[in-house]
Amino acid sequence: MKKNLSLVYLIVIGLLVLSACGTSNDEGTNTDEGATDDKPVLQVGTDAAFAPFEYMETGEIVGFDVDLLEAVMNEAGYEYELKNVGWDPMLASVQGGNIDLAIAGITINDDRKETFDFSVPYFESTHMIVFNEGADINSAKDLIGLKVGVQTGTTGAEAAEKIMGKNHEDIAKYETTALAFMSLTNEDVDAVVTDNVVAAEYVKNNPDATVEAITDKENFESEYYGLMFPKDSELEEELSAALTSIIESGKYEKIYNEWFGTDPDVDMLLKAANQ
Ligand code: ARG
Repeated sequence: MKKNLSLVYLIVIGLLVLSACGTSNDEGTNTDEGATDDKPVLQVGTDAAFAPFEYMETGEIVGFDVDLLEAVMNEAGYEYELKNVGWDPMLASVQGGNIDLAIAGITINDDRKETFDFSVPYFESTHMIVFNEGADINSAKDLIGLKVGVQTGTTGAEAAEKIMGKNHEDIAKYETTALAFMSLTNEDVDAVVTDNVVAAEYVKNNPDATVEAITDKENFESEYYGLMFPKDSELEEELSAALTSIIESGKYEKIYNEWFGTDPDVDMLLKAANQ
């Protein structure tokens, strides 16, 4: 009997811990007055290991994307719940229509457009190579023969594969970008290929580690981030319009400035939206 009781306690405690984790990972419901009753509470997925766009800080999802999402949802009058579901599950959930959209520094490209819909672009990015000082890396071609870490299923992984060969054995694929960086710190890999702003953030946040980041304009193309929707989602147009208003009204500029300390090239973004 006693044994049974302690088992019950264990289960109860386990459930409590689980539900606490659940809420602490959620950004919570946005309750700004813009939301109306007849609109659904939108479910938004992300992969919060990609600072400064989305990352966990004291149990909350924070970052540029998080603030931008908030502004877009306020503008469009939606309540929403942002959940840190992880990269692959996020893509699968959007594809299956289990969530309404995702924001995660997601690059808009033709491949993905076959499976997903995207908003207008909201950020320009390119790739960078991050490595421990002393490695003789001056261009993307120097990655050949080295061990390279990437996040699986990202355009950074594709960029590395373009240079080194698809599924090359020297490419180590990690579930998150943060794990790829950790393997660089541990010297399991010689370099990491990832988005430039995320690379620069890593270098900035590791002043003691002797890390460097370089780009390679010849081998790495520029790309744009967008909100990602299930194919034929009716939300895309509405949220793209809200995003465009925010970009035009100066709200975007304010958020950008808060996170990056510089002004965005708004004209370039608006032009890219019409391409
Ligand atoms: N921009 C890259 C891509 O779309 C990397 C995005 C990774 N984002 C993240 N939250 N882990 O493939």
